[in-house]
Amino acid sequence: MSRLDEPLVARMRGFGTTIFTEMTQLAVHHGAVNLGQGFPDDDPPPAVLDAAKDALDEGLNQYAPGPGLPRLRRAIVDHQHRFAGQRVDPDTEVSVTFGATEAVASAVLALCEPGDEVLVLEPTYDAYLAVIALAGARAVPVALTPPPFADGEVTTAPWTLDVDRLAAAVTPRTRLLLLNTPHNPTGTVLDLATLDAIAAVCVANDLLVVTDEVYEHLVYDGAHVPIAMRPGMAERTVTVSSAGKTFSATGWKIGWAIAPPALTAAVRATKQFLSFSGGTPLQAAVAVALASPDGTYARVAEVHRARRDLLVDGLAGLGLGVTRSAATYFVTADVRAFGVDDAERFCREAPERVGVGAVPVSAFLSRPPTEPLQRALVRFAFCKSDAVIEDGLARLARAPTAFAGHGT
Ligand SMILES: Cc1ncc(COP(=O)(O)O)c(C=O)c1O
Repeated sequence: MSRLDEPLVARMRGFGTTIFTEMTQLAVHHGAVNLGQGFPDDDPPPAVLDAAKDALDEGLNQYAPGPGLPRLRRAIVDHQHRFAGQRVDPDTEVSVTFGATEAVASAVLALCEPGDEVLVLEPTYDAYLAVIALAGARAVPVALTPPPFADGEVTTAPWTLDVDRLAAAVTPRTRLLLLNTPHNPTGTVLDLATLDAIAAVCVANDLLVVTDEVYEHLVYDGAHVPIAMRPGMAERTVTVSSAGKTFSATGWKIGWAIAPPALTAAVRATKQFLSFSGGTPLQAAVAVALASPDGTYARVAEVHRARRDLLVDGLAGLGLGVTRSAATYFVTADVRAFGVDDAERFCREAPERVGVGAVPVSAFLSRPPTEPLQRALVRFAFCKSDAVIEDGLARLARAPTAFAGHGT
């Protein structure tokens, strides 16, 4: 056998092409409405776009310093103080990264030895499992429990974490908790009591925490609290976020990691050899974006809240059980009312049969789902224009007929 037959390293073989790429390709191929991948139809706010153009004219076209442009690190510090009440130092506690993805990757690669265990909430954003595998570490999923779904009904109940389960999953090899709140794909915001219970487990077991908070500003009900602000947590937490979701600029890939000096030094040690630095003019624009008035942040949330409601009410109207997510770009829905038990099959065939792209929640699980509800859940994205959502709903109305007689 030649090395060319199987060039990919064994630890990456299970990952293939990401589900988002696969579903987007299917949607494009069939001219479907893409309610799968979480990128908005909108452009960033005009002032933010202007800042990017100005930065090009200003000549910010060469490498930024590895930790990030000083003006952006200062803006991240101000933003963290303004919205989270956390005071951090721009020189020793903030690193600018190529999106939140690189921040998470840098942290996991910096902090985990081969064989270490990393706790993740399941369903899990797929990039986490891949980077844990790249580090040679082992992901240990801790299941979130879905709320009850009833056909044609909207539930506002969140998915919940049983923290006793989290505590029971800790072993002497557990190094890190990789947290995500507000959570993709469930749209759940972990509440204060849950965060405090998680914090107690982390402190008692001396765990490090990497928390992905990219949806921090896309919260429609309740409030997001950064776990770094809970007792005993700031010193053990790497807080990750990015500008992509907040400012409808997912293609810019400007993210950051906030952590105490020793953890920041570790993150920077790996980050410098992944990309060194990137997107200098966009870093300057994000510095301007983060200093936006409160109204700019509120407007983005307001627009997405209305879109959430349009999609949720529409899906319930089609007979599906669906969550009115408290946050993020996503809702989860039980597609069994369409006559399909298997969400994965639904998502593979829906682009062709009804002209809609979506993502099965099973794509966020570490093993195939065994429970009928978990098998039947689909994640729909609502970060789209009203017209696109309405078109998607009109097409989905054909699903019961389109899937009738095709088995489940
Ligand atoms: C939970 C979560 N983290 C990170 C990302 C990616 O962030 P970025 O584009 O800033 O790398 C996404 C994008 O969908 C996400 O849902």
